[in-house]
Amino acid sequence: MNTVLIIGAKSDIAKALARAYAANHSNLQLAARKVHELETFANDLRIRHRIDVSLYELDITATASHQSFYETVTPKPQGVIVASGYMCEQEAAQTSLEKTLQTLNVNFTGAVCLLNIVANDFEARQEGFIVGISSVAGDRGRASNYIYGAAKAGFSAYLSGLRNRLYASGVHVMSVKPGFVNTKMTAALRLSAPLTAQPDEVAEDILNAQQRNVDILYTKGIWRYIMGVITLIPESLFKKMHL
Ligand SMILES: NC(=O)c1ccc[n+]([C@@H]2O[C@H](COP(=O)([O-])OP(=O)(O)OC[C@H]3O[C@@H](n4cnc5c(N)ncnc54)[C@H](OP(=O)(O)O)[C@@H]3O)[C@@H](O)[C@H]2O)c1
Repeated sequence: MNTVLIIGAKSDIAKALARAYAANHSNLQLAARKVHELETFANDLRIRHRIDVSLYELDITATASHQSFYETVTPKPQGVIVASGYMCEQEAAQTSLEKTLQTLNVNFTGAVCLLNIVANDFEARQEGFIVGISSVAGDRGRASNYIYGAAKAGFSAYLSGLRNRLYASGVHVMSVKPGFVNTKMTAALRLSAPLTAQPDEVAEDILNAQQRNVDILYTKGIWRYIMGVITLIPESLFKKMHL
C-alpha cells in the first residue's frame, strides 16, 4: 500500500485530496499547523477506508525545522503533495512587510526548502512522486495579485526544474495550476461560477493526472486556454488592462 504525505493538510483542496487518496487505498500522513484539529477528520478516514492516517505538526515557513520534521515521518512516503498556500489582498501584500514575506515564504521559500529534502530522499530511493499546487496566478503577473503570483511563478519554475532533474531517477513531479476553486482562500471573492471548480473536482483531477504521470495540470482544464491567451497579450497592451 502506498503512503502519501500531504503538506498543508487543513486546506480545503488538501482535505478533498486526502479523501480521494484514501478511497484509492493509500495510507496518509497529514502535516499542518495545529494538526490536532484534524484528529476527527483523520479518524473518519481510518474507519471509512481502513487505512493508516498519521498526523504531523508542520509550519511550512519554519524552514529550520524541515529536516527534523522529515526525519520523524515514518514510514517514508511514496508520494508528497504540497497544498499549503497563503493569499491576502494585493493591497496588504504590497504595503505590509509582514504580509509580503508571508506570501513569499508560504508559497515559495518554505515549499522549496521542504521539497529539496524530499527530492534528495526520493532521488536516492529512485522512487516516488511529488505534486506541487501552484496557480494560474503564476503564469503572468497582474496588478491585482502579483505578489502571490510572483511566489507561485517561482514555485512553478522550481517544480519544472525539479521534474527535469528527477526524471532520470524515475521520480515524477507534477505541477498543478488551479484556476478559481471554491475554498476558504477565495471565500471573500466573487468568482465566475462556470470557471470555478469545487475542491473534490480538483482532487479527482489531481489523482487521475498523477496516476498518468501528467507534467502540468490545469484544473479546470479550460484555464490552460485562458492562460494561453493571457500570456500572448503584448506587454504594451497588457499594462493598460485592469486585470
Ligand atoms: N482556491 C483557489 O482558488 C486556488 C487557486 C489556485 C491555487 N490555489 C492553491 O491551492 C492550494 C490549496 O489552497 P486552498 O484553496 O485549499 O485554500 P485553503 O483552504 O485556504 O488552504 C490553505 C492552507 O494552507 C495552509 N497554510 C498557510 N500557511 C501555512 C504555513 N505557514 N504552514 C503550513 N500550512 C500553512 C493553511 O493552514 P491553516 O489552516 O493552518 O491556516 C490552509 O489550510 C494553495 O497552494 C493555494 O495557493 C488555490
